Amino acid sequence: MQITPSDATLGAVVTGVDLTRLDDAVFAEIESAWHRYAVLVFEGQDLSTEAQLAFSRRIGLLERGLVKSSTRLLAHISNTLKNGDVADPASLQVRFNEGNQHWHSDSSYKRVGAKASLLCARVVPDTGGETEWADMRAAFDALDEDMKAYLEGKEAVHSFVFSHTWHGGQELLAEEDIAGLPPVEHSIVKVHPATGRRSLFVGRHASHIIGEPVAESRELLAALTRQACQPPRTFKHRWRVGDLALWDNRCVLHRGHPWPMDQARDMVRTTVAGDGPDNEWAEDAAPGFAG
Ligand code: OGA
Ligand code: MN
Repeated sequence: MQITPSDATLGAVVTGVDLTRLDDAVFAEIESAWHRYAVLVFEGQDLSTEAQLAFSRRIGLLERGLVKSSTRLLAHISNTLKNGDVADPASLQVRFNEGNQHWHSDSSYKRVGAKASLLCARVVPDTGGETEWADMRAAFDALDEDMKAYLEGKEAVHSFVFSHTWHGGQELLAEEDIAGLPPVEHSIVKVHPATGRRSLFVGRHASHIIGEPVAESRELLAALTRQACQPPRTFKHRWRVGDLALWDNRCVLHRGHPWPMDQARDMVRTTVAGDGPDNEWAEDAAPGFAG
């Protein structure tokens, strides 16, 4: 297995490994590289859905989708229809997914946000459609001491309705499902449970800061996101079919890039639920892998 770090403060490309045949020692090496680089891109894995689910479950319990009553574990991030045709660019499906082009942490609008996301490229366009990640550990480190002190201990409200009102796409969910996604609170300065590193937890779902005026604090959160997501803290991957990316939503933001809308792009995501307690979005079953 070769792990090649990017030039940025995060991200590495991993080759020479078959994710369907990992012994515990190699898995442990992957996990420690993941904690170090926060984003790993495994090139040319061509995983089946079952293999993607199995690898994802080695990282933790999977997170169910947007609807609490649903058992769906796969998110299709695509502009294709079931028959493979390209969807109408004005369709709700396409508009909803365009929200991903704004910096975010998956499921930060849930009470317990996602731990990891795994995205597999099934169909890629000829140009564009890259995914980009930003290192929120390095972003925190780059803040001046006054701002670090100001943010320490503060919480932000993250809200599905907020982000999908300003961006659009909220109509994808029924009213009762939206009711299952009430606004939640997350610390703005997050301490990573495995590495102990502090990071800045912001992004498109963050609405405002508790105890601060809404408009001003909303602007501050947006400015923090903008400033954070700049080189050398960003890592962008141009997809080839079969690549799989694994990232840590607790310390990176990510966004998709646009591509010509007459071309198909089909990505499949599995999401690993945030570590408890009692995460109501985690699948009930114990992980398939007992190691
Ligand atoms: C996601 C996501 C961006 C992309 O899968 O969670 O935001 O490039 N994807 O498709
Ligand atoms: Mn996402």
